[in-house]
Amino acid sequence: MAERLAASLLPAASPSPAPSLSARRAAAAAYFPSSCSARRGLRLRSQPPRFSQKVAGGSLRVVRCMAASDAAQLKSAREDIKELLKTKYCHPIMVRLGWHDSGTYDKNIEEWPQRGGADGSLRFDAELSHGANAGLINALKLIQPIKDKYPGITYADLFQLASATAIEEAGGPKIPMKYGRVDVTAPEQCPPEGRLPDASPRDPAEHLRNVFYRMGLDDKEIVALSGAHTLGRSRPDRSGWGKPETKYTKDGPGEPGGQSWTVEWLKFDNSYFRDIKEQRDKDLLVLATDAALFEDPSFKVYAEKYAEDKEAFFKDYAEAHAKLSDLGAKFDPPEGFTLDGDKEEEAEPTPEPAAAVPPPPPTPKPAAAAPPPTQKPEPVAAAAAPPPTQEPKPAAAPTPAPVAAAVATATAEDKNGAAPQPEPFVAAKYSYGKRELSDSMKQKIRAEYEGFGGSPDKPLQSNYFFNIMILVAGLAFLTSLVMN
Ligand code: HEM
Repeated sequence: MAERLAASLLPAASPSPAPSLSARRAAAAAYFPSSCSARRGLRLRSQPPRFSQKVAGGSLRVVRCMAASDAAQLKSAREDIKELLKTKYCHPIMVRLGWHDSGTYDKNIEEWPQRGGADGSLRFDAELSHGANAGLINALKLIQPIKDKYPGITYADLFQLASATAIEEAGGPKIPMKYGRVDVTAPEQCPPEGRLPDASPRDPAEHLRNVFYRMGLDDKEIVALSGAHTLGRSRPDRSGWGKPETKYTKDGPGEPGGQSWTVEWLKFDNSYFRDIKEQRDKDLLVLATDAALFEDPSFKVYAEKYAEDKEAFFKDYAEAHAKLSDLGAKFDPPEGFTLDGDKEEEAEPTPEPAAAVPPPPPTPKPAAAAPPPTQKPEPVAAAAAPPPTQEPKPAAAPTPAPVAAAVATATAEDKNGAAPQPEPFVAAKYSYGKRELSDSMKQKIRAEYEGFGGSPDKPLQSNYFFNIMILVAGLAFLTSLVMN
């Protein structure tokens, strides 16, 4: 696969001009299949998924039937996605992948797949080469090996699974997902270009309403979903928006560069709303459509609420994300199905969100100590580079075009495939993987241990708990005597 990729996508070093649309189409077409007939053939050999079905009298019986995706394979793929996220820090681009597949939905068109939506059409170059999708070829390249490993699942399901898993793994809410989305089978079934939102329209609020109302979403959902920008960065060499790098992105994790909306851009929380509201840090991005959330009176109600109340944001985001992921989808079985365990997990209390990586240092280096801006020359990798090892790397083009070239960024990323894995994020102050704990963290742990009579230096004495149990039993006995 790496050779195929290298041959089709790595024609030149990064400073070359952006390839033409037809070159980008040809490159992506060489990599991504134009039909899923192979998948269908393989599916026949996979185990049909099982579903519970209500029968007369209200009892449940388990039936076997074919569905668009195999539930067992989806669950295994979910584990592989978690691993991918851990090693490549690609949470943001997976979320963008899912959103750009489903966000083409037009509720005014009844026929599938003309109506667009979550149907896997984004795998085709016809759609991948749309300006709004610049850079998403990198997401496809990261996820394609998982698709190859699990032929019994559809692209449409895989994109949405990857997106929801990325949100959850970044510390976001559990998304009440269902699966069984059917894939389109040919590039002719892709939606026309221009259905996704622009970042800087003439009237941002009106534009957001035009685009999201067309999808059947309302003001609350527009604001909640915009909160996904708590993750990720904008790169001038892709969308044309954002700075080439900031103090929050110059060290990665993953490939350095771009401009994030939040300080901890791999942690899903409500900081997006707080940061837009304050607009105090020039290193944080605010697109016109982001700013509109605090300017438009109706949007503002929700934006203010989410800035104050993270739980309210999580609840509304989870619902809106699930709805977004279903847009336009044709399900097989028609009602879709959930993955085992989803229900139980939903019932669990929401754990404190964990950042996908440790937070960056609170005090950025003074400007004088900052590295020279933007134009780092990229090492040129061998043609037969291994599969991508990092989430997208920005191409080092001196003057980026407003709309990025998918192949140009893929080129940069593939070169990165040959590069050594960079150290994740900033100086290791927190326990992450096998890193040494910071002194302050050690002190905190020690204090917690000592708080209940133990010590981190030696295991708790077993009779410590035993003594407590005897004391409790004695008290209970005395209480019962007094009561009688
Ligand atoms: C409201 C209208 C929206 C506009 C105008 C918009 C625009 C953009 C732009 C310009 C970028 C930068 C892309 C790049 O340069 O690589 C971006 C990135 C991103 N968008 Fe949006 N977006 C919108 C809504 C959404 C929604 C609804 C979601 C998800 C539910 C989303 C998720 C993301 C994520 C996660 C990234 C970061 C990708 C990365 O770091 O690779 N966006 N968006």
